[in-house]
Amino acid sequence: MKDRRIDEAVTRLRDRLRPDQISVRLAERLAYSYDATWVEGLPDIVVHAESTADVAWVLRIADEMEIPVTPRGGGTGLAGGAVPTTGGICLNLARMNRILEINPIDGIAIAQPGVTTYSLQKAAESYGLFYPPDPASLYMCTIGGNVATNAGGPCCLKYGVTRDYVLGLEIVIPGGKILRWGGRVMKDVSSYDLKQLFIGSEGTLGVITEITVRLLPKPPSIGGIAVAFEKIESACEAVTSILSNGILPLMAELMDQKTMQAVEAFHPYGLPIEAEALLLLATDGKEEAVQTDLARMIRVIDAFGGQVIRVAEDTESANQLWEPRRQVSPAIARLAPHKLSEDITVPRSQIPRMIQHIQRISRESNIPIVIYGHIGDGNLHPTLLFNRQNSEEMRRVAKAALQILQAALDLGGTLSGEHGIGILKLDLLPAAFSPAAIEKLWAIKLIFDPKNIMNPGKKLPIL
Ligand code: LAC
Ligand code: ZN
Repeated sequence: MKDRRIDEAVTRLRDRLRPDQISVRLAERLAYSYDATWVEGLPDIVVHAESTADVAWVLRIADEMEIPVTPRGGGTGLAGGAVPTTGGICLNLARMNRILEINPIDGIAIAQPGVTTYSLQKAAESYGLFYPPDPASLYMCTIGGNVATNAGGPCCLKYGVTRDYVLGLEIVIPGGKILRWGGRVMKDVSSYDLKQLFIGSEGTLGVITEITVRLLPKPPSIGGIAVAFEKIESACEAVTSILSNGILPLMAELMDQKTMQAVEAFHPYGLPIEAEALLLLATDGKEEAVQTDLARMIRVIDAFGGQVIRVAEDTESANQLWEPRRQVSPAIARLAPHKLSEDITVPRSQIPRMIQHIQRISRESNIPIVIYGHIGDGNLHPTLLFNRQNSEEMRRVAKAALQILQAALDLGGTLSGEHGIGILKLDLLPAAFSPAAIEKLWAIKLIFDPKNIMNPGKKLPIL
């Protein structure tokens, strides 16, 4: 943006915001120029919103002056969605971090967008309640970001994704109008369900400023097992068999050998690095039911040649069992200068074939690909490792990424199960949607954001 326009925007923003809420200092702009990928984009102005009124003011000025706005939560995204790649305003929502209400009778929590997922979970727990969606970055990511990306996580196998918990949203749209949709009730068919449109919209329609979520009673007990498999195919078959035999685990997570090796190098947990795959399974509920489920799962595991290497019979040891899984993303980031974490999801029946495709694509492209993910719901994170400075390698990476997506689509799957499109997956969209479908997506976008100021260049392919 030209200096004069930046100065004018800052002057106008200052009419209603304090000086410490607005920054044009390079150090601060740099601090908001990245997320958990390699994508970079320097904002011209960083604004720290502290209320819905602040957000409305920013969206009024930005709309009038046609300045791009990139909303930002914890900055843990894996698709470049929160990176201000077109400059303009980075709208940081981290200061809006208050839990406004937890109501055990209504079974809801109301939170501002900057509350971290972990603090929301802990606050719910203090009332004996449970907020299940658990992205691996839960200590850092925010509930606003979770809603904006419809985040998932391991527990989603049994409990569903963020979308399944959002009851109400307060939204600010370009121009500064404030909309409230849904509320503290479980059932509501009074209109088009606009909040569903905003869930997963990655900041391209407006800014989410307040979130009402449904809470469940906290299950009294969790148990889990860690199982080593000589062959990765057997791990996949065991999971499919468990799921099709009347057991719905809390989580079913896979790590391939390279993933285990990376995690062990990061922190020695004692993972079975000589095996081809590790399966982590958990179950929750009443203590007796947990024991029964564990025994049933172990019987299936035996039938598929898995070796149970650890059993956790209570919540605390189950959490310990889970710790290595939460370290996967940072651990594999150390394997190569750059990584691209894919997020394809295939129908459960196609998981073994998808893994075969990924292994073949890795061999043929000569790009190392580590495989881990939420195998129970078919959501895998094949992660390509490479060096971006090497342009020949980058061509192979781009081709391999496209082949992985195509394989997922051919198997009846989708290109992103939980991370979103952001900017990194944009090129892949035309393969997944018809031109007519893309035209309708744009028509909806422009109803809310006619000047295309909200997170431009993300989520929707360039027409
Ligand atoms: C995970 C993130 C990458 O599952 O989605 O670890
Ligand atoms: Zn994941």
